[in-house]
Amino acid sequence: MSYLETTVKFYTEVAEQPQVGLCCVQSSPLQLPGLKIPKQMQEMNYGCGSTVHPTELAGEPTTLYVGVGGGLEALQFAYFCRRPGAVIAVDPVEAMRQAATRNLEIAAQQNPWFDVSFVEIRTGDAFNLPVADASVDVVAQNCLFNIFEPADLTKALQEAYRVLKPGGRLIMSDPIATSPIPEHLRQDERLRAMCLSGALTYQEYIQHLVDVGFGQVEIRAKRPYRVLDCQSYNLTEPLVLESLDSVAFKVLIPEDGACVFTGRTAIYLGAEEFFDDSAGHLLQRGVPAAVCDKTAKKLGSLPSKEILITDSTWHYTGGGCC
Ligand SMILES: C[S@@+](CC[C@H](N)C(=O)[O-])C[C@H]1O[C@@H](n2cnc3c(N)ncnc32)[C@H](O)[C@@H]1O
Repeated sequence: MSYLETTVKFYTEVAEQPQVGLCCVQSSPLQLPGLKIPKQMQEMNYGCGSTVHPTELAGEPTTLYVGVGGGLEALQFAYFCRRPGAVIAVDPVEAMRQAATRNLEIAAQQNPWFDVSFVEIRTGDAFNLPVADASVDVVAQNCLFNIFEPADLTKALQEAYRVLKPGGRLIMSDPIATSPIPEHLRQDERLRAMCLSGALTYQEYIQHLVDVGFGQVEIRAKRPYRVLDCQSYNLTEPLVLESLDSVAFKVLIPEDGACVFTGRTAIYLGAEEFFDDSAGHLLQRGVPAAVCDKTAKKLGSLPSKEILITDSTWHYTGGGCC
């Protein structure tokens, strides 16, 4: 049985018998005015962070949600786009599709604004998304892609890229590892399915996105969420996993490389009113300007040393240089 089959088997089990706080620490779901999340749906919150960022969802986007789980985030996406077919939710696990359908029916009884037609649940998987090329504004996945081995992750990202419209966004939340996960854990298919041993390091994760063509990546959040301790996981040192919320844009990669925003700023400290680097960046003296990591590196290495570069906050919400 391949690890993907083990994953399907695992999620069949937890769809039939929900496990509160299963693979990730139980995070409280995003509460929104007038949104009532059914108890059954909340108990099947199998994600680590959130992919539902209200500022991402202006203009009533069509969202393709990969790995529907209990339907929680599909419901939250529908909150921002209240029309039939606004959310297409895909899952290869029949029991999971059935559970999500049931939970969304309960949600419709509890939320006067919601109609089950807003979320269309389709059979399919991350490697073969049942939608046309360049047809959706947003692709979202929470706590699924970390399960995939690197070559499969590339395939899933290519598939997300294919279905996004130009300028569209891939919104993800996944565990990442603060140091490489040892092979004996990476080979453990059940731990992998539980989102505990497939995680890549931050650099590897971002590189996968850039390698398939996403020209801009923005980090919305990065925080510790789980530790693999020495005794339970046969490690010499504890290994901290973090959860990473990111948004990757289907825009061309600039000639000098992709723009990755991690919350850094550049501050001009010189004697002039402005600093112009002749590459499109105009810095007003004393005023922090949000910059991508590539620009931060270039400005920080200028010989004049008149520019202060601040550290990554791991929380970026737009307004940057590129
Ligand atoms: C960790 S759960 C996350 C569920 C949901 N995103 C959430 O945040 O609660 C992973 C989900 O992906 C589904 N899944 C498993 N293998 C998949 C695949 N190859 N393609 C798409 N979805 C898959 C599982 O059935 C399950 O619903």
